[in-house]
Formats: sequence, C-alpha cells, structure tokens
Amino acid sequence: MHFIVPVSFREIVKEIVDTTYLTHGIFYYPAKFIPHVPHYCVRRFCPEGGWVLDPFAGSGTVGLEAVLARRNAILIDINPLLSIYVDTKINYRYANIENASVLNALHQMFTWGEPCEPDWKNLDYWYPAEVLQLLKRYWGWIHSRDIQDPHMHIIRPALMRANRRFSWADHKTAKLCRSKYKTHEMQKFLKQENWCEHIQNFITKKALENASRLRLLTQSLSDSPCRAIALAGVDSTAVDLHDCPQIDAVITSPPYLQAQEYLRTFKLDLFWTGVSEAKVRELMRLEIPYRKATEPFATPTYTRVYEQLHRADLQAMLHSYFFHTTRALENAATTLKRGGFLCVFVGNPTVDGKEVETWRIVVEHFERNGFVVHTVLRDDIKSRQLFRKKRKNKNPRGMESEYLLVMKKL
Ligand SMILES: C[S@@+](CC[C@H](N)C(=O)[O-])C[C@H]1O[C@@H](n2cnc3c(N)ncnc32)[C@H](O)[C@@H]1O
Repeated sequence: MHFIVPVSFREIVKEIVDTTYLTHGIFYYPAKFIPHVPHYCVRRFCPEGGWVLDPFAGSGTVGLEAVLARRNAILIDINPLLSIYVDTKINYRYANIENASVLNALHQMFTWGEPCEPDWKNLDYWYPAEVLQLLKRYWGWIHSRDIQDPHMHIIRPALMRANRRFSWADHKTAKLCRSKYKTHEMQKFLKQENWCEHIQNFITKKALENASRLRLLTQSLSDSPCRAIALAGVDSTAVDLHDCPQIDAVITSPPYLQAQEYLRTFKLDLFWTGVSEAKVRELMRLEIPYRKATEPFATPTYTRVYEQLHRADLQAMLHSYFFHTTRALENAATTLKRGGFLCVFVGNPTVDGKEVETWRIVVEHFERNGFVVHTVLRDDIKSRQLFRKKRKNKNPRGMESEYLLVMKKL
C-alpha cells in the first residue's frame, strides 16, 4: 500500500517563476523537466557538494539545477548533443563578454569563406540550395573555433535555432518532416531580396539573448566549484559506471511510452555539429522504446496491463519500454550510496484506452531489487511544452497527472 501525496511543484518551488530562467531557455528540447522538479529533488535528496546522476539527461535540466544548488552532476543521454548543452548551458564560465565583441564575432562568421561539408547524404532534401551554402559557411566558422572560445558557445546555439527555422522542415511540429505549409513559406521567404539579412538578424538576436543569459550564469556561479560531466551519445542501459563517484541521488525523467524519436528530431543539429550519419543510425537502434526487449519482464501491474492489450505491436512496445527503462535505472542505481535516493518523474500514459500506471510498475520492480518507497508525489496536470511554438499541450502525455516517485536504496 502506497500513500500518494498530491502536490504542485510550481507551488512548492515558488522562487522559479519562469521555466526558461537563466540558461534553461537557450536550447529547445521536447518534454523537458520543469526545473521545479529537479530543483526540489536536488536540494531534498543530495547534500551540498554531493553528486547527482541523470541517465536520461536530455537537455541537462537536472545538471543545471544541481550545479546552481552547489551539487555536482553526471549526465548521460543517447543524444550526442548533450555534450554541447552541458558545455554551454551549465559549464560556461567566462568573464563578461560584451555585446560589441559578440557582434564582432558574428561579423566574422557572416563573412567566413571556408564552408564545412557534413558527412551526410541528403542535405539538399532539407535545405534550399542558397540557404545550404550559407549554413555551410557559418558552420565552417563554428568548426574553426576552439572549444575554449566563449563566442562560439554564445553563437552556436543561435545557429542551432536557425538550422530548422530556415530549412524545408516544418519547425512547428516535433517530428522532423517536410510540409506543404513550410515549402510555401520558405519559397515566399527566399523571394525577398534581403532574405540573407533576415537570417543574419535572426541569428544575431538569438546570440545576444544567449550572451545575456550566459553572463547571468557566470555571475550566479562565480564562486562555485561544482560542475556537470556529460556522457553523451551513450546508452544508459549498458554504459559502464564502475568508475563513477558515489552518487547521492539519481534524478531523472525517462522517455515516455510512445515517445517521439529524439535522434530523428535532432537530425539537422546532429549533422551540422559534426556527428556522422552512420553514428546517428547506430544510436537510433538503441533509443528507448524503439528497440526490442531481449529478456522477459514482469511485475503484477505490468502483467495485468500487458494481458489487457490485444495488439501484438502494443504488447511489444510495452515490453520493450519497461525492460529497457528499468535496466537503465538499475544501471544508474548501481552508483548510489546505501541510503541514496532514486527519484523518477513519470506519467501514467494511456495505450489503446488502457491506463499504464508507470510509477507503480517501477515501484514493483525496484521493491524486489533492494529499494523501499520513500514517497510518491502526484503533480496534477501542468502544461509542459512538447513542441515548438504555441502548442502548449495541457496534458502532453495524454495523462491526468505526473508522479515523482522517490525510492531509497537499502
Ligand atoms: C523525457 S527526455 C529527458 C528530458 C530531460 N529531463 C530534460 O529536462 O531535458 C528522455 C531522454 O531519454 C533519452 N534516451 C532514450 N533512450 C536512451 C538510452 N537508451 N540511453 C540514454 N538515453 C536515452 C532521449 O534521448 C531523451 O533525451
């Protein structure tokens, strides 16, 4: 019997009034944590100076909240872009970079003459030829920079925003796909004489906004020795964590059942930032829940739901999801100190009209594997922006509530 405590994280963590505060707002990422949840967990379940680990780190929300609270973080994600998010959004520490110097760097980039050639076949499927030439030069400048160049950290995320905005891909949907609407919009855009100036203005605006966010981050962390370490492009179910420091709390929000494919979503950023097509294909085969389970999985609630599903494809998805998600959590939990906390933020999605009580299945699995339940908190529907633009889905996972499940390692 577990008591579920209703809460509102937005009420508990009143000091966060804007979910995109500081550098949380620099990168787009679907189904991000609202920072309130890791803010609460980090302070409650990890002592100052301690370590947290997130095996599904996404854009690094847990890492930023940990470092802001003077804790250290190890962040793991199958998405290779995590290393860029962490280097910029969390670990950036440069003294004041004035706007004039950002504008100077932008001018260098806009007039750069050495294009880069991403190791991908069908770039022209995603871009009009003239935009492609432009982006190749801009990304050529980024690749010519040193990793220690603060201007590169300020400008690269701005360029990542432009990657999709000025492509044939519909930037208003989460999935990467071409649409009639976007083709029409881009054709109209390119008819303007000054289309190139528009792109440059877009990038400049974003870069100056990033510079201001990064100045604030540097100020906030000026005397903090804490850092985040990224293990990017890594499968959490199999990564060897033996050399990891002892962890006080694992804090994570796993992908959800019937999740979108993150690697496919970020294909454009991946090829511009230098990840090869072959590498992305290899990683896509490891993404949860798009891979087969290799061994049986069972808990009482899981088995009941499984038996209620009458479609073999949905049964296979359920199996794959719980098998691999619990494996990744177990692997992450091997790093936990005795008495350490496993905090998992999940919803109860609906599959074929049947509710899947994810938190209960996770509890049943871990209670048999050396954990006891500490608390189950239920946060009722809060809007989480899954997609670009205005489509704020009140209930993005098709769920009534989301649950913060906290378990303690025996
Ligand atoms: C819900 S998102 C996490 C978002 C994150 N909490 C944030 O605030 O940005 C789930 C993440 O799981 C990652 N993922 C999926 N399969 C994985 C695997 N096998 N190993 C590691 N990460 C994986 C996805 O790339 C995605 O970033």
